[in-house]
Amino acid sequence: MTSADPAVRLDAITKSFGGRRVLNQVTLEVPEGCGFVILGRSGTGKSVALRHIIGLVRPDAGSVFVHGTDITELEGTELAEVRKQVGFLFQSGALFDSISVGENVAFPMRRHTRLADAEIRQRVQSKLDSVGLGSDYDKMPGDLSGGMRKRAGLARAMALDPRILLVDEPSAGLDPITSEEIDELLLGLKQNQKTTLVVVTHNIPSARKLGDQLVMLDQGRSVAQGTVEELEQSDNELVRAFMSSSHAG
Ligand SMILES: Nc1ncnc2c1ncn2[C@@H]1O[C@H](COP(=O)(O)OP(=O)(O)O)[C@@H](O)[C@H]1O
Ligand SMILES: [Mg+2]
Repeated sequence: MTSADPAVRLDAITKSFGGRRVLNQVTLEVPEGCGFVILGRSGTGKSVALRHIIGLVRPDAGSVFVHGTDITELEGTELAEVRKQVGFLFQSGALFDSISVGENVAFPMRRHTRLADAEIRQRVQSKLDSVGLGSDYDKMPGDLSGGMRKRAGLARAMALDPRILLVDEPSAGLDPITSEEIDELLLGLKQNQKTTLVVVTHNIPSARKLGDQLVMLDQGRSVAQGTVEELEQSDNELVRAFMSSSHAG
């Protein structure tokens, strides 16, 4: 890895499921420290693209680079090492419902570090504080509101202080105000911890706030890439229509 390496690079990735092509020669580059937004209609391959970045899905053709490392063929401990640098906030929050909020955040620390219990407890508390759940360590996920679950998922995704955070539809299922609060937390990570963000959303206000660079996918292809202003002036009518919609969620 050199300092010139982007945080993430998808190099002409193509992926089919059951003979249906979901991603078609998608190339994109996420500079280190960037807020990168993936836009597009439902079913157009956004989540599949995101999953490639942590090797949950492998491309049929093309390569995936994380901080300059080609992860396309990596397995086992090598892939695990790369994954530690990449946090993932799933759409549902994906919390374990049978353990407390605090233990959810502690889980990656117990699994991937040899930190002592007291140290873990302290780090978890600081993660929970940072997302406004400082007094919710012992609550069960089932007792949280949607916004709180998302915050807890964010605390867990950040448990190992990854340099890259992937976020799949942070606004989904949240009211606009709660959704804005989540955006503020994400923005804070980018600004204060220099975390690189890759965010899938079709919430345009959120895309405007978080997106230094954006890509729009349509039917598995990248149809536009650039800043908000560049996408607003795209030659592609769908891209312009998308950018001018106020559709949230
Ligand atoms: N593991 C999988 N097996 C089969 N089909 C899948 C799988 N993952 C995604 N797909 C299909 O790929 C297409 C794109 O999915 P996705 O990336 O989730 O879309 P979105 O842009 O809404 O996030 C959808 O038609 C979806 O059904
Ligand atoms: Mg999706």
